[in-house]
Amino acid sequence: MRALSNKKVLVFDSGVGGLSVFQEIYRLLPCVDYLYLLDNEAYPYGELDQAVLITRVNKLVAALVEEYQVDLVVIACNTASTIVLPSLREKLSIPVVGVVPAIKPASLLASKGVGLIATPATVTRQYTHELIRDFAKGKPVELLGSTRLVDMAEEKLRGKALNLNELATILSPLKDKIDVAVLGCTHFPLMKTEIQSVLGEDVMLIDSGSAIARRVQSLLGLGVEEKSGQSYTIFSSAPPWQEGALNEKLRELGFSPIRPFPHLDVLDH
Ligand code: DGL
Repeated sequence: MRALSNKKVLVFDSGVGGLSVFQEIYRLLPCVDYLYLLDNEAYPYGELDQAVLITRVNKLVAALVEEYQVDLVVIACNTASTIVLPSLREKLSIPVVGVVPAIKPASLLASKGVGLIATPATVTRQYTHELIRDFAKGKPVELLGSTRLVDMAEEKLRGKALNLNELATILSPLKDKIDVAVLGCTHFPLMKTEIQSVLGEDVMLIDSGSAIARRVQSLLGLGVEEKSGQSYTIFSSAPPWQEGALNEKLRELGFSPIRPFPHLDVLDH
């Protein structure tokens, strides 16, 4: 039997969106020990003040990294990654991997236009506009920011069927304008099937999950190894709504029931 890795990876998001990234990493690295923190007390990040977001993420992530001797952090949230990565990398001595909208690969694939579907904050970030300026290659980029879409993914993870009419109404500004859509919020790959059915098979959907997983694998220097067999720990910064339904889904993904994040006091100073 091959040796198990004893690497520990922390995956962080405001909610369940980071689970789409976790699933991609887990597919490549089932041998790793995962920790997940959802900062649902401050959800939705897409409507949070930038300075508050930077301070929170730095403090919460640093507290867990220290307590659990984490080897690598994944900020599995576009809204946070587009502003917190420089400060977090300065604060921590371990690798920090972020998720930003996949504008570059989408623009290479598009002939008509690119749609960026993200949070209201991500579509207004300077970082996003620089990505578009540097990598869109002159292709038109339609921006669509929606918090309701993020809520719908949270609902789906708790077992609620999505209302496709509502989804179609939200996505209607993109209709006939694009042939590639970037899922620029980690919540959205959780609704990939429904988004695809609403936008139609002619629109290609792109997200950053598999690229992030390959980056994590290369930074940890791991090959294909055995699954560890343990269940993973997940913390939340506030009691989650419909906790029972959420825990059921989390169990399928390999997690123990949600536990309260033990270090909220770090936010007080
Ligand atoms: N999952 C997040 C992202 O990738 C943030 C959603 C939110 O809290 O608004 O942007």
